[in-house]
Amino acid sequence: MIRLAKRVAILGSTGSIGSQTLDVLDESSGFSVCGLGAGRNWETLADQAKQYSPAVVAIADPQAESQLAGQLPAGTELLTGPEAMCELVRKSAPDIVVSAVVGAAGLAPTLAAIETGATIALANKETLVCAGQIVMPAAHAAGVDLLPVDSEHAGIFQCMMSGKRSEVRRVIITSSGGALRDWSDEQAATATAADALNHPTWEMGRKITIDSATLMNKVLEVIEAHWLFDLSPEQIEVVIHPQSIIHALVEFCDGSVMAQLAKPDMKLPIAYALQYPDRPARNVAPLNLADIGSLTFKPVTGRNARAVNLAYEIIRHGGACGAVLNAANEAAVEAFLTGRIKFGKIVDFVETTLKKWLDEHSHARKKADFSEESVTLPDLLAADAWARQQVLALMPQ
Ligand SMILES: NC(=O)c1ccc[n+]([C@@H]2O[C@H](COP(=O)([O-])OP(=O)(O)OC[C@H]3O[C@@H](n4cnc5c(N)ncnc54)[C@H](OP(=O)(O)O)[C@@H]3O)[C@@H](O)[C@H]2O)c1
Repeated sequence: MIRLAKRVAILGSTGSIGSQTLDVLDESSGFSVCGLGAGRNWETLADQAKQYSPAVVAIADPQAESQLAGQLPAGTELLTGPEAMCELVRKSAPDIVVSAVVGAAGLAPTLAAIETGATIALANKETLVCAGQIVMPAAHAAGVDLLPVDSEHAGIFQCMMSGKRSEVRRVIITSSGGALRDWSDEQAATATAADALNHPTWEMGRKITIDSATLMNKVLEVIEAHWLFDLSPEQIEVVIHPQSIIHALVEFCDGSVMAQLAKPDMKLPIAYALQYPDRPARNVAPLNLADIGSLTFKPVTGRNARAVNLAYEIIRHGGACGAVLNAANEAAVEAFLTGRIKFGKIVDFVETTLKKWLDEHSHARKKADFSEESVTLPDLLAADAWARQQVLALMPQ
């Protein structure tokens, strides 16, 4: 029997996850690249299109259209503008969509991909943070698998296969602690972008690297785990594990704890999501525990605990709170990276924005703001826009 190659569309192909996905596809057989999408990096997108000849490429920045148009191979269609990524998934007929855009910009294309019925390899955690209450039912209704690419969630997913879902007591997500792990709160408050981008174990895009330093990445991941695995706040713990060898642990009702271990390498969860339910053979050096020597763990304390606690608050309040938190964080990280605010202000701004939202909306007791059933996508997009405005207003003039 002839097996057709699986068609893969990569949203965010020019980024860290996107380019590693292409590396994984280079090492694999049985796949073809049908669509590639990016934000504004037309040079890298043009190189990728020349190498993979996808049916469709999309670039969000309309100004990149003229440069990219002359660079594409014959037969590749070019789409530009804010809707281009959604159109790409509709037009390229993918079997698998790798959702690897950074930020809330990944939400609409991920929803569009779910509507096509394609399997989703989900790296873009912000999609679930903003709109888990819409994305998860949409995936269930469409019968679509949402396979986690985030290493911790890929770890949870694999550990959970050791028992029945009803037997899971809790999950533990590990954190490297980020670039400023050993800095005091006082020192970290004025860390530069170069300091905060100097991640000890993972090489990633700029936004997630800053999120790792503030621990906002764990905030997003706790909320992502809540939606992906239907876990309550009490069932999700975070622990600092500097070696980044154990990615997640799942405790079952008899006290047994399953852990997923691997060297820090995003190609592993990417390859697993692409090949699932098979486990692809990969040519990687074995994990040598004797060489590693020790695996250590510390509780989350100080400024990091203050950040991580936001995740539990968001899950308890529900409604549009995740969209508010995510948008405030994106805006604050951008302000830090462009030198407008100090590192210590990132989480401050997120907290202040969230508090204002809760104050304004709990007084009004607007059902739509807090009820998962009645919250709509326009509500969430409006909350996102509101939060970005609030952060702008907090910025030093
Ligand atoms: N990197 C990791 O190891 C890792 C691990 C776990 C989870 N994740 C998650 O995966 C996602 C991607 O992370 P990353 O590290 O790969 O980020 P990245 O290196 O910054 O890449 C982001 C990608 O998104 C595109 N993009 C940015 N804004 C866009 C917009 N408005 N419209 C369309 N495309 C846009 C970028 O295009 P341009 O290049 O043209 O700007 C790029 O292709 C994030 O949600 C992150 O949290 C990443």
